[in-house]
Amino acid sequence: MWKKAEDFIRQCYTELDKPFNIDSRLQEVKTAIEQTGTYEHTYEELEFGAKAAWRNSNRCIGRLFWESLHVVDQRSVKNEDDIYEGLLEHIDYATNEGRIRSAITIFPPQLGGERVRVWNHQLIRYAGYDEPAGVIGDPASIEFTNFCRQLGWKGGGGSFDILPLVIQIGEAQPKWFEIPLEKVLEVQLRHPEFDWFKDLQLKWYAVPIISDMRLEIGGIDYTAAPFNGWYMETEIGARNLADSFRYNMLPAVAEGMGLNTRRNTILWKDRALIELNQAVLYSYKTDKVSIVDHHSAAEQFQLFLEKEKTCSRDATGDWTWLIPPVSPAATKIFHQSFENRMDTPNYFYQKPPYRKRSGQN
Ligand code: ARG
Repeated sequence: MWKKAEDFIRQCYTELDKPFNIDSRLQEVKTAIEQTGTYEHTYEELEFGAKAAWRNSNRCIGRLFWESLHVVDQRSVKNEDDIYEGLLEHIDYATNEGRIRSAITIFPPQLGGERVRVWNHQLIRYAGYDEPAGVIGDPASIEFTNFCRQLGWKGGGGSFDILPLVIQIGEAQPKWFEIPLEKVLEVQLRHPEFDWFKDLQLKWYAVPIISDMRLEIGGIDYTAAPFNGWYMETEIGARNLADSFRYNMLPAVAEGMGLNTRRNTILWKDRALIELNQAVLYSYKTDKVSIVDHHSAAEQFQLFLEKEKTCSRDATGDWTWLIPPVSPAATKIFHQSFENRMDTPNYFYQKPPYRKRSGQN
């Protein structure tokens, strides 16, 4: 703990470049660790740590904006109700009627065995029901949806039901809370040229708020620290709605386009993908909900790389995640390589509390 704390405190104040006596803060931290086994971050340290963790997130293409992260300190919450309020405030702040703002809300850190967990993968996500006739909703949510039902939540059985928030403090029974529907901004998908597209009745929510990762800063583990950016269209159009193990919409889109889905050589999947992604961009843009296309995101990522170089840091990255799933070779990222080293502060996967085996959502 002390070694990690020392490294972080030095990095923090060196980068912030404040006229500040690092040694006295280090002494304070050291004494606290010796006497209590832990220490407390100042707000400034917390803010820098959360931002640096984003900067170090190798899989994120959106890191150009790491300095603009809005950091909300909710370390003093006492119970599940307080946490629920904090989560709703996060949703409101981030959504901002569509002009999405990147934010993180940081709840109390792990202390010994005591830890806060938000069981949801993202604060806003659609339920998945494993029915005899097939899956309804998001197949990626089936396991979590089953747990919500065990806790007493009644799902509506639809394709786009918003899951409840599930909050756990220590080993207590997790508590679930419904998200008021008016707080959830969604976008109905339509296509700029294909009038039939709207009849597919597809939609997606505006703000992806990852809530199951652990934020590690200077040896302190924030096990509940939900954060958000805004969507890149491929996340929705080439993955969530397109993957055969998610909403699997490519056959339906291709059919609408009148393509023969028995012939691989006419590239029906590729053509359906493009139109689905076009519909996502068109709908979000028309509704004035923040979204970035993968070409602009890749250009922004190049700026991030340059900026890091200017600050004499070499950006790390995970190529397999950074390249977009649509036309990857049309972006510069595809033709580069990155060192996939995990620096701290950073965001780490943690085992879902409702799952026996380890792994991610
Ligand atoms: N890929 C995830 C999803 O489709 C969201 C991950 C975070 N994305 C973001 N743009 N910040 O829901």
